[in-house]
Amino acid sequence: MAAAAPRVSPRFFRRAQAHGFCVPDIPADVRAKCVAGTSTRVLDGRFVADALVAQCGALVAQKKGQGGRVPKLVVVLAGEDPASAVYVGNKEKMFAKAGFESETLKIASCDTTLEGLLSVVGELNARADVDGILVQLPLPAGIPAHVVLAAIDPRKDVDGFLKENMGLLALGDFSGALPCTPFGIMVLLAAHGIPLESKRAVVVGRSNIVGKPMSLLLLGEDSTVTVAHSRTTDLAALTREADIVIAAAGRPLLLGKEHVKAGAVVVDVGMHRKSDGKLCGDVDATFETGVAGKASALTPVPGGVGPMTIAMLLVNTAAAAWSKPLS
Ligand code: GUN
Repeated sequence: MAAAAPRVSPRFFRRAQAHGFCVPDIPADVRAKCVAGTSTRVLDGRFVADALVAQCGALVAQKKGQGGRVPKLVVVLAGEDPASAVYVGNKEKMFAKAGFESETLKIASCDTTLEGLLSVVGELNARADVDGILVQLPLPAGIPAHVVLAAIDPRKDVDGFLKENMGLLALGDFSGALPCTPFGIMVLLAAHGIPLESKRAVVVGRSNIVGKPMSLLLLGEDSTVTVAHSRTTDLAALTREADIVIAAAGRPLLLGKEHVKAGAVVVDVGMHRKSDGKLCGDVDATFETGVAGKASALTPVPGGVGPMTIAMLLVNTAAAAWSKPLS
């Protein structure tokens, strides 16, 4: 029997592949999982993120054997935003599971100044043991995030937010750090075998963190991309044209059944706490008024995009660490 041809990674995954990662395979039972009572497939992000965590563990053991370093992230958490505290806690847990190092510097709102943050970032830039720096957003009111982010050494920009990395992406060059949420969505779609070439994609939201880089990554895979935003008129008419809808508006339950065509793939980036304490996304995922039963596939909230974002932070931190010459 002929040997299987080596798998070729999509362009956006080449940097990760160069450091030993591959897009995880999904077993048939996970691939076939559907939203209860419907034919809408669940795009399970937890499974794919866990597979990437396992790859990190294996790679770190291999690199250590070759004299390579254990990747280390430092998160700067300024202020008391409760959602940020949960995200940072999840990052710490996933880094520990992957066998990577992480440290969180907590700064109370009342102690947060622009000068103080710039000095912290300067120290982290200079530390040889730190591979990645993540300044958790949002920052306390009055602190200009763009000024703080711009102070990070681009080689340690594991968020992929700096002009040096975002600029490469805008030029169709995927060799820099890619922003973790859209990067994670691309890996999730690839792992679940969702074709993108020549498909019509509508990205709802134009943020620098998700919407803009998402549109560039989809363009890189030859989708036909439209970006909708808060001033878009007749959103439903636009999203109903889409084969792939990326909901990243930051508005709870913005998109319902009337916003998608039958068979569309729907990715929900939102994560909101409802008044009853339950979590929901930007998409109504119910059968009655939402996209379940109409979409062909949907990311769950939680367990879809969220774990993928952290998994790609691991990958970006590994790439930052393993791009350095051995010391
Ligand atoms: N706040 C919410 N998401 C993110 C993220 O991906 N990176 C940073 N730095 N802050 C965030």
